[in-house]
Amino acid sequence: MSRCFVTRDLPGAALDRLRADHEVEVWPDRFPPSRERLIDGARSAQGLLCMLTDPIDAQLIASCPDLRAISNYAVGVDNIDVAAATARAIQVGNTPGVLTEATADLTLALTLAVLRRLPEGQAAVLSGGWRTWEPAFLLGRDLNGATVLLIGAGRIGQAVARRLEGFRARVVLAGRGDPLPALLAEADVVSLHCPLTEQTRALIGATELAAMKATAVLVNTARGPIVDTAALEAALRAGEIAAAALDVTDPEPLPADHPLLSAPGALVVPHTGSATHAAREAMADLAVDNLLAGLSGDPMPHRVATRPGP
Ligand code: GLV
Ligand code: GLV
Repeated sequence: MSRCFVTRDLPGAALDRLRADHEVEVWPDRFPPSRERLIDGARSAQGLLCMLTDPIDAQLIASCPDLRAISNYAVGVDNIDVAAATARAIQVGNTPGVLTEATADLTLALTLAVLRRLPEGQAAVLSGGWRTWEPAFLLGRDLNGATVLLIGAGRIGQAVARRLEGFRARVVLAGRGDPLPALLAEADVVSLHCPLTEQTRALIGATELAAMKATAVLVNTARGPIVDTAALEAALRAGEIAAAALDVTDPEPLPADHPLLSAPGALVVPHTGSATHAAREAMADLAVDNLLAGLSGDPMPHRVATRPGP
């Protein structure tokens, strides 16, 4: 029997499987534990099940001498110093696959919402701006025939590409090392599906936004810091791009009075890419499977390897 610290209650019954064999403490609040409380909870634990809102850095790992397994309730692991964990032979796990389709669905929802100007349409209806049918009212752009650049050709990028085939869009998949400026200049939609790493931080900045068409839209369901927030706000205000639909932001959460929110064409939703009942319950199952394996010394079913350097 090991001690586990779980930094938030999870949907579904997965945590009951953990409780059946181990002593489990679940952080009870809506908000994440402070750093101090996180260390307090993890210090004497062998297993840690954490969220993307918990920074698990080298210093925190060093404060937890008994830790054997870190299971992230997310596919992205940019919140964890995987190299520091690996150096201590602590396994790190994530939840790939089970949230791919949900995240791809949200990508399409965001893309269509900005191409067809749904936020402006709803605002017009609510404010009494829908007075009559008009030939040139709220004209948007077609996904049919559009060139869509997907940056990141992993599971989620490929799932988005599959959906776009049905829309008869022209899909361009860009992986690591592909020349971005030329690809950006051709795209009607640019959608991000890469992990956040030192190579992708601020990948989309002022230069990249300036390379995009004035009619193009940017969609981010990956990680906020892949886009330079100030540069994006400036590009929207200057009309360098038409819209940005973001499920992830930098900072996160984005305060309600953040200037990006009032920039023309900005649509922001609160990091809900994987937020379906089925996806979040399946993520809980994978996260518990990973933790159980790590605690018993078996390889985690979804173990994260240290990323190779640049
Ligand atoms: C969510 O952002 C995840 O990485 O699972
Ligand atoms: C994440 O699951 C990805 O590889 O895109």
